[in-house]
Amino acid sequence: MPSPAEKSGAVTLRGVSLVYGGRRDGVRALADIDADLAPGSFTAIVGPSGCGKSTLLRLVAGFSQPTEGKVAVSGSDVAGPGPDRGVVFQQPRLFPWLTVRGNVEFGLRGRSRADRRARSTELLELVGLSDAAQRRPYELSGGMQQRAAIARALAPDPAILLMDEPFAALDALTRERLQEELRRIWQATGKTVLFVTHSVDEAVYLGTRILVLSRRPGRVVLDESSDLPHAPDPHLHPDHPVLREKIAAAVRAAAA
Ligand SMILES: Nc1ncnc2c1ncn2[C@@H]1O[C@H](COP(=O)(O)OP(=O)(O)O)[C@@H](O)[C@H]1O
Ligand SMILES: [Mg+2]
Repeated sequence: MPSPAEKSGAVTLRGVSLVYGGRRDGVRALADIDADLAPGSFTAIVGPSGCGKSTLLRLVAGFSQPTEGKVAVSGSDVAGPGPDRGVVFQQPRLFPWLTVRGNVEFGLRGRSRADRRARSTELLELVGLSDAAQRRPYELSGGMQQRAAIARALAPDPAILLMDEPFAALDALTRERLQEELRRIWQATGKTVLFVTHSVDEAVYLGTRILVLSRRPGRVVLDESSDLPHAPDPHLHPDHPVLREKIAAAVRAAAA
């Protein structure tokens, strides 16, 4: 048996199915998902629209419960949301009445002022927003807002970061920059990341594990491990084109 510390940040999915609106005539969103995600891994989840990607993330976040099967994090069954899991959505969902720093410190209520300040300073630096600490969300570009949302999610130091198409609403250049920065942040923090995306390129750039889901009900049709995110530049790695084509082919087949 691994010690609790070794298992911290692990995600386990066992025979997970989810039916919205009743077992008999409901919408079957996920079927029979089995996966063990190692602590510190970066799992990219790719699949056609409506295949259950957000549903899967919401289960791990504890926002909903599976109809069948079981979801566990760090060795314990998920019963609801918790500070061990930070969530980043496609829209930043920042609190408009708080400054950037205020948003980052939101999850640190209960700690001393000095503590909150030190932690938010560190996180704002990590996401490159030190100069924007006193600005309000509406004064920021979309990319900066999403950086702030990432800093806010990291504030309570969760073992697991859940990201649902966080860069999908950004322009291409900003998106590339943020992908690069997320890779750096993941390497610097050692978080377990679950990252939902439509983009094969994004999945191949970031994922040490890539799960391709079929159309609804989502099932895992390809489960691929990769070392590319550890390379100095994943795009230039000799395995890149082969892996990219393999994932793209699976996504095309899943969507057909
Ligand atoms: N609350 C809900 N009630 C009923 N059906 C839902 C609900 N949420 C999602 N669905 C349906 O479940 C399927 C999977 O949804 P979702 O997980 O959002 O897919 P994805 O994120 O892959 O686009 C879709 O067909 C969607 O319409
Ligand atoms: Mg979704």
